[in-house]
Amino acid sequence: MKTVLERDGAERISERLLLYRAPHPRQVATFADDVRSGLCAPTKHLPPKYLYDALGSALFEAICQLPEYYLTRAESEILARDAGAILDAVGAPLEIVELGSGSAQKTRVLIEEALRRQELLTYRPIDISASALVGSAGSLIASYEQLIVTAYASDYFDVLLDGGLGRAPGSRVLALFLGSNIGNYDPPRARMLLRALAQALRPGDCLLLGADLKKDVRVLELAYDDPTGVTAAFNKNLLGRINRELGGTFDLRAFAHTARYQPLSGSVDSFLIASHAHDVRVEGLSLTVRFEHGEPIHTESSHKFSPEDIEELGKITGFAVTRQWRDAAERFGLWLLRVV
Ligand code: AVJ
Repeated sequence: MKTVLERDGAERISERLLLYRAPHPRQVATFADDVRSGLCAPTKHLPPKYLYDALGSALFEAICQLPEYYLTRAESEILARDAGAILDAVGAPLEIVELGSGSAQKTRVLIEEALRRQELLTYRPIDISASALVGSAGSLIASYEQLIVTAYASDYFDVLLDGGLGRAPGSRVLALFLGSNIGNYDPPRARMLLRALAQALRPGDCLLLGADLKKDVRVLELAYDDPTGVTAAFNKNLLGRINRELGGTFDLRAFAHTARYQPLSGSVDSFLIASHAHDVRVEGLSLTVRFEHGEPIHTESSHKFSPEDIEELGKITGFAVTRQWRDAAERFGLWLLRVV
């Protein structure tokens, strides 16, 4: 597709679709820097945001289809039932901002409800995956003629700290942070992110926060270590990405995926564990990394929440909970928080 470059660096993909792309000046830590520091640390780790290259995003979409990964279905169930009540509680006219829109499949019901209440709608998705973003934004503007999309392919912090959320005067913002995406942040970072969001919003604006509830550890661990092996593939793709983009020599078969619920942190922590002692070369970083037998790489923590956890998180970041909804099986919650 032919795109036109705007004066501020945005790409105009079509009349109703504008794209801002990272790298952003603020984004100092690149994939290469983060891989180097993570693999050289005393306990090796890699940031989960790098799971979502084109292949990783496709594998995540497959995870959402797994019988064991109930989160997406539970949240869609709530949205299908309560989207009208949610938008009534926010009030019109509004604009929608979404952190981590991905395929934006779940957003559709909210967009449709909003377009029942107003003529035109501006939607601002922010996603680390440019491929997922361009694909989903394109199909949304094709579906809805009264939708205008301004997309940001970026880390959330870069957009929020930059005051990058423009808005039409007189409209209210509904920010969406769905899918328990918040769970990937450790509690201090989660607070930083919500504070940055509250600062970018105005009093009266709303946040619809989707969060996975604390529950039986067997249910949780199965959701993150499915017998089909899709989550293992999703996790190992991080090593594949290092091979592809940084000239790594990871043997993906030399690592085993595991996921364990940690009751103290309230998170399911995912690891890739070396099945034998060996060296891995990452040519693009001029780096050789030693792995011992059984040594883990921590790749992701997926925090789980009680209703009290959400109340508390909201309160200390500048929000007040106004309403909450759950799926029938009470596995997952949606909270509507208002900026105070
Ligand atoms: C997209 C971050 C919400 O933590 O549940 C799914 C990612 N990782 N299976 C989650 C994920 C393994 C997911 N989030």
